[in-house]
Amino acid sequence: MTSLAPLSANPAAIRADSVAPQLCIVVPTFNERDNAPVLFEKLDAALQGIPFEVIFVDDNSPDRTWEVVRRLAQQDTRVRCVRRIGRRGLSGACIEGILASSAPFVAVMDADLQHDETRLPTMLALLQSGEAELVVGSRYVGGGSADSFSSTRAGGSKFATVLAKQLLHIEIADPMSGFFMVRRDRFEAIAPSLSEQGFKILLDLIASAKGRLRTVEVPFTFGTRLHGESKLDSLVVMDFLGLVLAKLTLDTVSLRFLMFAFVGGIGLLVHLATLYLALAMNAPFAVAQGIAAFTAMTGNFLLNNRLTYRDQRLRGAKLIRGLIAFYIVCSVGLLANVGVAFSVYDQNAVWWLAGIAGALMGVVWNYGISSLLVWRK
Ligand code: GDD
Ligand code: MN
Repeated sequence: MTSLAPLSANPAAIRADSVAPQLCIVVPTFNERDNAPVLFEKLDAALQGIPFEVIFVDDNSPDRTWEVVRRLAQQDTRVRCVRRIGRRGLSGACIEGILASSAPFVAVMDADLQHDETRLPTMLALLQSGEAELVVGSRYVGGGSADSFSSTRAGGSKFATVLAKQLLHIEIADPMSGFFMVRRDRFEAIAPSLSEQGFKILLDLIASAKGRLRTVEVPFTFGTRLHGESKLDSLVVMDFLGLVLAKLTLDTVSLRFLMFAFVGGIGLLVHLATLYLALAMNAPFAVAQGIAAFTAMTGNFLLNNRLTYRDQRLRGAKLIRGLIAFYIVCSVGLLANVGVAFSVYDQNAVWWLAGIAGALMGVVWNYGISSLLVWRK
């Protein structure tokens, strides 16, 4: 492999009027059209003298945030817009924004002004001096606070923090923060292990770095949202629990697989309930079993589309095509399930062992093949 020549080798090749950004601020947005311009103004004021760029990563917001950002970018070359179509997710948006920058230092912050942009120069100085490789804007160290939280949200946040710290052996006070700055090269080295799902990119980064990321916390006060509303809902909480489980199994079991298996468990209940009802209505067993299987498969498909794969949800014609592909995948999965169960039973005649082996074979097959054929990227 040949190494690249140093950038300054040919000064004539560098345009005189361009100043390479030292710092990139990545701002994930979903329905933040009123907040984005205010945030940019505040960043401009807070970062006087620091060459920076701001990358807004917008998931095709219905309120057309991307349009507002594009207009800003027309007026100021320090603003960039990444508009993602057909994908959703805070973590994925942050990863994509960070990888889109070539600045040596990258920060992630919310668009709604809840994070304190005046802390950015301090955070940058810590990275530039080499004292830290990751700086976390922290609500839970001396001088920081999250007073604007409702009591439920405050309780939930504290509980999640304790859970994550205990289970994943994380030392810092606020691993659930959405405000941090990191050396881009260090981030890029860890990026292949990060999950695109959910909100907890910082937690994922720290857990995946396994102590190899020198981290310093800087206190800040979590403010109140300027315009619009929070997108943190119960699905985001599920994502968080899934992330903790995935990390506990050392990434051998992915968050998506856990969700898929969970949905599969619900499918089994749906199957049994439908079978029971159909038999109660005097349907012949074979017919009842067929109806139950179709109901369960359809239900599983819709649930997976809404939960497991909601970041790449199928709609319209793709939904129908996906459903048909899912029926086919699951039918083959069932054959594999029965085949494996039979051969295990043949060898040792323990019925439940054979049953579990068959079910495992089925879920692994269904998950693997449907990620290739149904929800393919
Ligand atoms: N691109 C994109 N896609 N952006 C998103 C998405 C998404 O699916 N969901 C949310 N965002 C953006 C919002 O537009 C906002 O700029 C930022 O991500 C944070 O979302 P909020 O909905 O404001 O989250 P929050 O204030 O409830 O939660 C914040 O605080 C938590 C700590 O309590 C976030 O910073 C969390 O990451 C943090 O853990
Ligand atoms: Mn917010």
